Amino acid sequence: MSQLAAGPTARAVLASPRDSGRLDRDWLTVLAAVPLFGELSRRHLKRVASLAKTRRFASGTAIVRKGDPGTVFYVIIDGSARVVAAKGRARRLKAGQFFGEMALLDDSPRSADVVAEDEVLALTISRSAFGKLLKSEPTLANALLRTLAGRLRAAEASA
Ligand code: CMP
Repeated sequence: MSQLAAGPTARAVLASPRDSGRLDRDWLTVLAAVPLFGELSRRHLKRVASLAKTRRFASGTAIVRKGDPGTVFYVIIDGSARVVAAKGRARRLKAGQFFGEMALLDDSPRSADVVAEDEVLALTISRSAFGKLLKSEPTLANALLRTLAGRLRAAEASA
């Protein structure tokens, strides 16, 4: 399993049995290791923590289904997931990577299935909180756009 952050605090946080839980201060170490949040100050990380929840998905679960409406943005904290689109190569997303942004950004149905490859611990952020975060945190919006550009290049290269 691919796990995001090392160290005793992160390990204790990730081993916590609480699901759908709010994120406490100990989570800041884990959030700081997520590349998308890498440029955020501690104050802004606290804001992310206040808006996010955690969810666990069993191996094989379709976390997102193509065609469904999008209500939530996901960041993988532990485990990995496979993006399965009708065309193109399936893509693996590992700890620290995100998905579910497209349907929220363009208000269209989910573009692909995203399936847990093993047990996945994900951070979830609701559509409205995601919109507010992007508006108020330009560094986060920039990091998201950089990743989207990279994914578009990879998709073009494999088409
Ligand atoms: P969304 O369309 O909301 O739901 C499915 C998600 O899969 C999508 O957002 C992206 O986060 C992700 N996704 C779709 N296509 C790709 C791709 N080519 N590479 C990586 N992730 C993708």
